Amino acid sequence: MKKVFALGVALVLGVFVLAASAAEKPKVPADGLKMDRVKKVVVFNHSTHEKGMTCVDCHHLVDGVEDYRSCATAGCHDKLDQKDKSINSYYQAFHKAKGAKFQTCVSCHTKEAGADKERKRELAGCAKSKCHPA
Ligand code: HEC
Ligand code: HEC
Repeated sequence: MKKVFALGVALVLGVFVLAASAAEKPKVPADGLKMDRVKKVVVFNHSTHEKGMTCVDCHHLVDGVEDYRSCATAGCHDKLDQKDKSINSYYQAFHKAKGAKFQTCVSCHTKEAGADKERKRELAGCAKSKCHPA
């Protein structure tokens, strides 16, 4: 009986610990994050992505839970070959323009630019854009 009680207490505690860690939002990293796993390095700034956005817009739910691990975490977007078209593709996670399960950089930037061609070049272009200045 004692054992069952101890197990029950352990379970309840475990659930509390899990819930607490899931609810805790990490600190937003400093600007100038280098995303350098693709050929054309992108410098990402959280500060320019605050207006009208929430963390989960990018750090999307994984199995229903907020997830702040790096995009290329093993088992996530860890296929670095730019030709890979699977859901695990690192390149597609940022570039897929249509039909992505979650918003990508390019899908949102394209929407943001709307019919404005100059803004589209700026926000969704491959070269001389804000993402890829070179
Ligand atoms: C517009 C998209 C976007 C939004 C919105 C966003 N982030 Fe991020 N965040 C990123 C990207 C991209 C990275 C870099 C991930 C990588 O290098 O794999 C990142 C990295 C991070 C990291 C570091 C993860 C690691 O270990 O590499 C943390 C922590 C984080 N963000 C927290 C937040 C929080 C908290 C919010 C909301 C207040 C937020 N982010 C909003 C895109 C976003
Ligand atoms: C939900 C919409 C949304 C998503 C998703 C998003 N962005 Fe943006 N991004 C914007 C908007 C809006 C601006 C323009 C901000 C401005 O002009 O003030 C912007 C501007 C930028 C800029 C130029 C400003 C700067 O900080 O240098 C870069 C670079 C950029 N985004 C990179 C990214 C990358 C990389 C991702 C994906 C990891 C991403 N964005 C995802 C909406 C988004």
